Amino acid sequence: MSTTSMNATTSSSQNPSLPFASRADQLVGSVIDASTTLLASYDHDIVKFGMGAPAPDMLPAKDFARIAGEVFDPANFTYGETKGEPVLLDALHDYLSSTNQIPVEQQGDPDRLLITSGGMQGLDLGFKLFVSPGDLVACESPTYTNGSATAMSYEAEILEIPVDEDGMQVEALEDHVARTGRAPKVIYTVPTFQNPAGVTMSLPRRERLLSFAHRHRSVIIEDNPYGMLRFSGESLPALSDLSPNDPLIFGVRTFSKFVAPGLRLGWIDVDPAVRELAVNAKQTMDTCAPVPNQHLVAQWLSEGGAESHVEVLREAYRERKLTMSAGLERLFPGEVSATDPDGGFFLWVTFDDETINTEELLPTALEDGVAYIPGPAFSPAGKFSNALRLCFASNTPERIDEGLERLRGAVGRHRA
Ligand SMILES: Cc1ncc(COP(=O)(O)O)c(C=O)c1O
Repeated sequence: MSTTSMNATTSSSQNPSLPFASRADQLVGSVIDASTTLLASYDHDIVKFGMGAPAPDMLPAKDFARIAGEVFDPANFTYGETKGEPVLLDALHDYLSSTNQIPVEQQGDPDRLLITSGGMQGLDLGFKLFVSPGDLVACESPTYTNGSATAMSYEAEILEIPVDEDGMQVEALEDHVARTGRAPKVIYTVPTFQNPAGVTMSLPRRERLLSFAHRHRSVIIEDNPYGMLRFSGESLPALSDLSPNDPLIFGVRTFSKFVAPGLRLGWIDVDPAVRELAVNAKQTMDTCAPVPNQHLVAQWLSEGGAESHVEVLREAYRERKLTMSAGLERLFPGEVSATDPDGGFFLWVTFDDETINTEELLPTALEDGVAYIPGPAFSPAGKFSNALRLCFASNTPERIDEGLERLRGAVGRHRA
């Protein structure tokens, strides 16, 4: 057993005798990532709805074992080019073009892509290039914690813009600027199957956001890990599709959700001049992304592995989401409202009873064998105390039912 603290932070002010940089105070860490360590300290069975990780049974493990035998050659265990291994850049560019994941206008231009160490490094590069201390960064509310935390690590001032079922309320952003006269330097958004809410920004809102960004010359960091994992509904163009070759759009993508997070590979899709600066910035971070892993994924993509694998994921995640939505309705009738995403990994659940505090509920839930991420983790201001995020992607339908039963029990016990 363990302490149930999900606190991600050790504040620099806890050790005032050391000459920390001013930004050290803004290193708030990630409640999501801290949950991995927390859960490792429990020795009873826990159904994990917390981390946004693909199910272990959903990884292309057999393909990887075979391909590793071919590409884990000593020559591929040295330093690589910072922009990424050319074989991966080519294979990725071909895959994205053939699956319409980059606009036609950008096809044939691999100079926009840079292989990163996961989507997180893409976010870090974006905020590093565009945020100076004190700059205003607008993000969704709730938002992906690690995104807002990265902006804060560059001493951004965060502006939370509410989200509804059509994504970020761009009107609220416009109102803010009209009221204060201050536009954000950067807008951070996960427009498709948002983390944590699962919602997708409507087409009119996407157009309105682009027009806002052009008017104010705000950079949009379009973080899109889940867009390809649509299992129902009509697909919508990415912001980068609506405005091809737009230097104000900094696209962040990752292999973590459709291949495997432990590879730590992602990419950015940006204006070539921005990419040059990003290469310089990455050289002071980690020189290059893991080289053997890049060769592994390059070979897998070239063999056509992704197309069939993504189909398998979509079908499995559709079933898992339906199971989770139905389980919530069955076990929490009239007690909670939950979002109903057409793709991605997450449901956002809000208790109608505002006195339920999901941070306080968590220790009981963990004791009862179920993990989730409490709502306040997704708001720099600590809002959403009666909400929580559930990941439906990581568990089989049977385990999802089991986890929800345990959550039902925990809520009852906590209330008692
Ligand atoms: C919205 C969003 N952006 C970025 C990331 C980070 O991706 P990676 O694990 O590849 O660093 C995640 C992972 O959960 C995410 O959900």
